[in-house]
Amino acid sequence: MYMSNATGQDGDPPHRLGERNLMANNSGYSFATWTSFIEESQIRALLKYKVKYYFAGGLPGIMPTKIFGQILKDLGETYQVNPKQAIDDLNYGPTGGQPWFLKTLAERLQKVRKIPINCENDWECVSVTNGSQQALYAILDTMVDPGDVIITPEPAYLGFLVPAVKLGARVITVPTDLDGMIPEDVEKAIEISKKNFGKCPDIVYVVPDSDNPKGTTLPMKRRQALFDLCESENIIILEDSAYAEIQFKENPKPIKTLDKENERVAYLGTSSKEAAVLRVGYSVLPATMREHVLKDKGYLDLCTSTLVQRILDIYYKNYIDEAMREGIPKYKERYEAMAKAIDSCFPAGLRTDPTGGFFIWWESETPFNSADFLQDVAIPNDLLYVPGGAFYPISGYKLVNNGSDLEPSKPKHNTMRLGFSYAPPDVITPGIERLGKLLSEHL
Ligand SMILES: Cc1ncc(COP(=O)(O)O)c(C=O)c1O
Repeated sequence: MYMSNATGQDGDPPHRLGERNLMANNSGYSFATWTSFIEESQIRALLKYKVKYYFAGGLPGIMPTKIFGQILKDLGETYQVNPKQAIDDLNYGPTGGQPWFLKTLAERLQKVRKIPINCENDWECVSVTNGSQQALYAILDTMVDPGDVIITPEPAYLGFLVPAVKLGARVITVPTDLDGMIPEDVEKAIEISKKNFGKCPDIVYVVPDSDNPKGTTLPMKRRQALFDLCESENIIILEDSAYAEIQFKENPKPIKTLDKENERVAYLGTSSKEAAVLRVGYSVLPATMREHVLKDKGYLDLCTSTLVQRILDIYYKNYIDEAMREGIPKYKERYEAMAKAIDSCFPAGLRTDPTGGFFIWWESETPFNSADFLQDVAIPNDLLYVPGGAFYPISGYKLVNNGSDLEPSKPKHNTMRLGFSYAPPDVITPGIERLGKLLSEHL
């Protein structure tokens, strides 16, 4: 039986000004402190494995390839007859994005997601970044000093958790159920942050639509309750809507729709899941936050590729609805194939029941360590998933005793995230059946 050997750890982030990292080299020079306690992203590390049954990273497996082929062909012809546009499109541009692309994004956000943007005048509240990952990092960099407190669901997207710890944030994770984050627990976490750390949290992070890693969707009542709570406590909600367009049924409106004055919610989207992985994220940020975030981005990359913005501008103006109409039913088929195979072949446990996105989360009834099982059993059998432990902070706190206390975070190792986005149903079904059989044999 695979047992967790995780030990408890201190919840405070390793101090940014602590011992410099002299261990990593023999040359006499040292590295910044964070290099000693931050490891390579576990999802990146798994990319090196080539397996037949790939259920690990959130790679889109359904791409509008014909559409992009057409866009590139048309663009090539435009550049032949209009070299001036080619020079502009192959050049540097404004750090926050090209005005023509920001206007296109503003229109889509207003029309489809009902975000209250006056497209004529307010398009400048939209910005683009190199993936929404860059926006997550730059927002943390902008909002958090070492020792500041942020609240996340448990489990949570590791691309947010790891930078938060790297930058010295105290992370408090709150429990989630099959509807996602529980506002009453967020309220308790705020109170305990004030009591234990003498400060109110700065950010509540949430992925309301088909969360990563659990795939849960936050009902409207909880969205409203979170908004009201953060409004009364003066806390920023970081609404990461990475999967908002990949939905099998109509979802509640974004939390951002409640933020009429654009003051409370930092809203992030990404073209990675709904277009292609061209490294373009987009955001609607409160004005002062946007200014600081773009200042940060300016020093990180100067700007996002203008050519890529041009390609996506044409896609969002002319093709996205057609691409989503074709793509979403195919993602739904993959989800159904995975859910069915889990239900018929896995040992006793609990799975989530997503209505969109890329992931199902599974928790075993029997204790085992899914990271050890991955290395020892799954990979040798041509299978890859992400062990659930990756979605807990490497240091941080969790609410305990019905929310009256905090304890150092501890990963739940009897869990795994299974991605249904990449492999087609005729790979998902035999792959999940094989995984289920191996789990049943070993647990
Ligand atoms: C919840 C969530 N946020 C943000 C990202 C980052 O996406 P990107 O940088 O490709 O826009 C991901 C990627 O998988 C994600 O799952």
